[in-house]
Amino acid sequence: MHRLTNRRLLLGITGGIAAYKSAELTRLLKGAGADVRVVMTPAATEFITPLTLQALSGNPVHLQLLDPEAEAGMGHIELAKWADLILVAPASADFLARLAAGMGDDLLTTLCLATDAPICLAPAMNQAMWRDARTQQNMDKLKALGMLVFGPGSGVQACGDTGPGRMLEPTELALLAAERFEHRALAGKTVFITAGPTREALDPVRFISNHSSGKMGYALAEAARDAGARVRLISGPVNLPPPERISCIQVESAQQMLDAALDGLAQCDLFIAAAAVADYRPVSIAEHKIKKGSEEIMELHLIKNPDIVASVAASATRPFTVGFAAETRDVVQYAQDKLSRKRLDLIVANDVSQPGIGFNSDDNAVTLVTSTTTETLPTTSKQQLARQLISRIATYFDDYEKTASKDS
Ligand code: PMT
Repeated sequence: MHRLTNRRLLLGITGGIAAYKSAELTRLLKGAGADVRVVMTPAATEFITPLTLQALSGNPVHLQLLDPEAEAGMGHIELAKWADLILVAPASADFLARLAAGMGDDLLTTLCLATDAPICLAPAMNQAMWRDARTQQNMDKLKALGMLVFGPGSGVQACGDTGPGRMLEPTELALLAAERFEHRALAGKTVFITAGPTREALDPVRFISNHSSGKMGYALAEAARDAGARVRLISGPVNLPPPERISCIQVESAQQMLDAALDGLAQCDLFIAAAAVADYRPVSIAEHKIKKGSEEIMELHLIKNPDIVASVAASATRPFTVGFAAETRDVVQYAQDKLSRKRLDLIVANDVSQPGIGFNSDDNAVTLVTSTTTETLPTTSKQQLARQLISRIATYFDDYEKTASKDS
């Protein structure tokens, strides 16, 4: 089921008594981390209310092909493109016939015509309707078009008949849907990532900060999401839009970043600290704007900020913890020092003295440092580098988990 994390599933529901099971199916898919959008045919709404599916999926339910409101938001072509997989459960005899005929007379059939995503069908109907030669011809046609058929099962039917035509149970359907996706390196893992700078206020209008743009941390969050993780991105103030399918928590100061990092840390499997956190903050924040005085030199009193990544690594429910080290000289040596001082599992050393990489650039180059190894990843885009880093971090994390399970 972990394979469903962050996948976009479009669940089509057609008119049949098995539609009541689609509520449980929606709950299971959502619980497995999928982003679920439900499309119902008019007949389906006779069996189960859109409101139920909306509450369970957490998304508006799509009902009509020509709905001006939906077209202004996510129209039928966007929905067709959005889906990673379409699962129609239950798929009635009438729907299967319309699909086999290539009709686009409602939203669901139109989506199926317009999509490039795999289409999976979970037939559900009376046994005589399922055995009917026309239904079987339709099924042959749909299979020949590359559509996958889940079930149907056999047994006692709602109408009292016994035979084939029962929709598979929601758990079976969710597992079959999950099998359509390949296993990914961080499937089902929860990853927290810090990104961007912190701002340490001096007064209501001034603060101490740095040049971090958040690009590296955001790219890591997207790469972790694409590797199957549930990602919480804890971000300082940056000019980047929150990435899709990532829970993004906006903070300003180091203290706020620490609070967000510790909140729910017991659920976190892997923590990556890419943020450039201010090491010090003003001892006090002036209530009003500090006025320019007659003195030529102004003294600021600063106090040490909490070390977020070290606090995470020292916590009782310690996740696998990865830090970054921004250095301008003796990069690997200082990174190794931070690795052991902060009790990290890995550290990514970033030479921020080099032009074109590091702070606020689109590219980066780093050295991945463990207690025994170093590996240099040469200059490339932060997106590409993030994918390389996530792939390597996932391998180290996997070894760490295997060792932990052997020891326990
Ligand atoms: O945001 P970009 O513009 O894309 O730039 C990316 C980056 C250069 C900011 C990034 O690649 C990077 O190097 N991030 C770490 C920056 C930093 O502050 O490093 P540091 O050596 O000062 O800190 C070491 C580690 O401790 C870091 O993981 C940092 O997040 C963490 N830390 C530091 C201080 C503190 N109070 N709490 C922390 O958690």
